Amino acid sequence: MENNDGFVAALDEKDLEEGKMKHVTVEGTPVLIIKQKGKIFAIDNRCPHQGCGFSGGTLDGLVIICPCHDWRFNLENGEYEEEPLMKLTKFILKVELGKIWVKLEDTE
Ligand code: FES
Repeated sequence: MENNDGFVAALDEKDLEEGKMKHVTVEGTPVLIIKQKGKIFAIDNRCPHQGCGFSGGTLDGLVIICPCHDWRFNLENGEYEEEPLMKLTKFILKVELGKIWVKLEDTE
């Protein structure tokens, strides 16, 4: 895929609708891209608890709920609601030239 300043094109922006998530693989890493309340997030699809795929989970506002044990993670700060030190991995992203780009080596 195209490379731009360490960012890799992950998805065409037009393919991501509000309230939806898209599971893509970026350089071998499973990434879930989410658009919710007009904001775009890119997270590692693997839950930090036991590695289940968030892509099978559900969204509740700015919270993603893991399908395996219903743990709730805040998309804005990555924190698990019950134990904020446990966080999902968020990637830096940018929207440019009609695409959503992610930078795998930089996590928020
Ligand atoms: S694997 Fe996600 S909550 Fe357990």
